[in-house]
Amino acid sequence: MAEVSPSVLSADFVNIADALLLIQEGGASMVHLDVMDGHFVPNMTIGPPVVASIRKATDSALDCHLMITDPGLYVPSFIEAGANMISVHQEAAPHLHRVLELIRSNGVQAGVALNPATPVSALSEVLGYLDYVLIMSVNPGFGGQKFIPQAVDKVRELCLLREENNLSFRIQVDGGINGKNISLLTQAGADILVVGAAIFLSENPSAALGKLMRVASESSVAYQV
Ligand code: DX5
Ligand code: ZN
Repeated sequence: MAEVSPSVLSADFVNIADALLLIQEGGASMVHLDVMDGHFVPNMTIGPPVVASIRKATDSALDCHLMITDPGLYVPSFIEAGANMISVHQEAAPHLHRVLELIRSNGVQAGVALNPATPVSALSEVLGYLDYVLIMSVNPGFGGQKFIPQAVDKVRELCLLREENNLSFRIQVDGGINGKNISLLTQAGADILVVGAAIFLSENPSAALGKLMRVASESSVAYQV
């Protein structure tokens, strides 16, 4: 059964507590936090102090997506801030194995994110050391971008690898996900769908979250606008 990780990137940060409440009351178990450094990606967002404040404002699991150079240097600060899941980019972490061990040794779930141009094969040596893989279905840096459909093939490829190697990592997909493409991803085998704009820029964010969660949990149910 797949689930939705709502991204607050497109929410109003002045009223972030409202977005967190909407997510929690909507029944999503996690909230996706996009951390950008203006170096690995051409945008800047939040850091550990804001994550620590968010930690105090919600019971949801904090799914932190680090779009930052040398993530290993900052992982301890995000763990201290209360992250429950941390993903780092393969393209930004030369010592990927070490970073994954650091995250997991602190009881936090470890994920690796792949940009659209990075093949799944880049993870062959670390698949056994991670809790989830994050397939980017947009180039990271901004919310509200157009979905890149090759992500669906990557999800299928990862599913096969997981089965062949008897592994249990989850598959997360992030970027441009909406009511039109969510079932494509769940049917391909995605476990966690990150959704930002299609929730927080919609007319009725809690209704949008509810619909997307229903489709994610039963991949045979069609999304009705
Ligand atoms: C993009 C971020 C995404 C983004 C998804 O760099 O990693 O998490 O918030 O938002 P939408 O759903 O708007 O593409
Ligand atoms: Zn993200």
